[in-house]
Amino acid sequence: MPLEIVVGTQWGDEGKGRIVDLLAKRADLVVRYNGGDNAGHTVTVDEHTFKLHLIPSGVIHAHTFGVLGNGMVINPATLIKEMDMLRSAGVEINPQRLSLSYAAHLITPMHQALDRAQEISRGQGQIGTTGRGIGPAYADKASRRGLRVQDMLDGDALCEKLRQHIREGNLWLERLYGAQPLDEHSVVEEYSAYAATLRPYISDGGAMVWKALSEGKCILAEGAQGTLLDLDFGTYPYVTSSNPTAAGALLGMGIGAVPAKCVIGITKAFQTRVGEGPFPTELSGEMAGRLRGTGANPWDEFGTTTGRPRRVGWLDGVLLRYAVRTNGLTELTLTKLDILSGLPHIHFCTSYTTPSGQSFDDLPYGPADLSDFSPVYEELPGWQEDVSRVRRWDDLPAPAREYIRRIEAVSGVPVRRISVGPERDQVIEIES
Ligand code: IMP
Repeated sequence: MPLEIVVGTQWGDEGKGRIVDLLAKRADLVVRYNGGDNAGHTVTVDEHTFKLHLIPSGVIHAHTFGVLGNGMVINPATLIKEMDMLRSAGVEINPQRLSLSYAAHLITPMHQALDRAQEISRGQGQIGTTGRGIGPAYADKASRRGLRVQDMLDGDALCEKLRQHIREGNLWLERLYGAQPLDEHSVVEEYSAYAATLRPYISDGGAMVWKALSEGKCILAEGAQGTLLDLDFGTYPYVTSSNPTAAGALLGMGIGAVPAKCVIGITKAFQTRVGEGPFPTELSGEMAGRLRGTGANPWDEFGTTTGRPRRVGWLDGVLLRYAVRTNGLTELTLTKLDILSGLPHIHFCTSYTTPSGQSFDDLPYGPADLSDFSPVYEELPGWQEDVSRVRRWDDLPAPAREYIRRIEAVSGVPVRRISVGPERDQVIEIES
C-alpha cells in the first residue's frame, strides 16, 4: 500500500513541516492525524514562510488534497485564520482541496480556559502546556461529552450542546479553580458563525483515505508533536494528550492496520524540548545559547506556537532507539545538520548510567523525572565547513559523515535524507 507515515522522534519541533513539504511532491493525499493548534509547522517556499498549526503542510503543493483527520482536535477560529492566510499567499483552499473529518473534535474557549486554570492549579508540577485547550478537549472526547466536527452540521443541536458544555465547564472554572466563568451566549454566537463557514468542508476522512488507498494513490500521513510527547509512549505526565506515534496515524486517519510502505522518523541533529519534563542530555550556558540561536532567524529554537525559548541538548541515542521501536521506523531524516557546523566536538549520548554504575541502553521505566540517569557520551570530531550548500553525501565533511554513520549504527535504521537549511532545496538525498 502506498502509505508513508512521517513522525517526530523527539519532543516535537524536529522540522517535520519542511520534510512533509518535500515528500508531498509525490503524494496525492496529505493527512494530519493528531493534535491541534498546539503544533507549529514552518515551511519556507521562496519568499513565503508559512507557519501552519492545523492544515497539513503538504497542501502548499497545488496537486495535493488535504485531510484533517479524526484524531485531531480543531480550534475553528485558528483553522479559518489559517485558511485565509494560505489563500492570501496564493494557495487555493476550498472543499475540492481540503476536508475536515466529521469525527474530529472541536476545541472551544472553555477548553482553553480549563487548560490555563489546570496549569495554574498544578503549581510546581506544571506541564508547560501550550494553553490551547488540547488536554481538556481530548479529556472530553474520552469522557464522551466532547463536541465533534459533525455537530456543526446541525445548527440548533450545536447551540444546545455548546450551552450545556459552557454551563458544565463554568462549574469547574468557578467552583474548583476559582476562575472567571465564560459567557455562554457569545460562545454560541461565535461557533454558529464558524459552523456556517466550515460546513462545506466536513466529510468522512477515513472513507476518503481508504478510497485513495484502494485506487493506488499515495497517502502521506503527517504527525504533529513527537514520540516523546505521546500520551502512551512519551515522558508521562509531561506529554501531550494525543498519539503522535505511527500507530496513532492509522487510528487518527480513520483506517485499520494497513501496512505502511515506510515510517519516516524525523530527527533533529541535536535535541530540543519546550515545556517541563525530563531531558537527560540538556545543556545550559554558552553551548545551549549556540544551539538555540538568538531568535533573530525563523529557524532559531523558539516555539512556533508560543514563542517560548526551547531547551536544547545533545542528540540522545537512547531515546532515538526507543523511537525506532515504538514507531516501527524504517528510515530517518536528519534535520538541521548545518547548525552543528563550527563546533570543535559533538557529543552523542549512547546509553545512560546510574550512580550505582548500572547501564541502560533503552528508556528506563518507573521514574517520571529520569534525574538518576546520566547520559554517557561518545565524543566525535566536529567540522568547521558551512554545509548549507552541500547537496551530495560525498561532499559532506568527513566528520559529518562519521556522525551520521554513528546515528545509523546506534539507531539501527538508515538515514535517507539530511536537511542543511530551511529552503526547499537544502536537502541531501542518500541513495540506499
Ligand atoms: P499541550 O499539547 O498544549 O497539552 O502541551 C503538552 C506538552 O507538549 C507541553 O510540554 C508542550 O510544550 C508540548 N507540546 C505540545 N505541542 C508541541 C509541539 O508542537 N512542539 C513541541 N512541543 C509541544
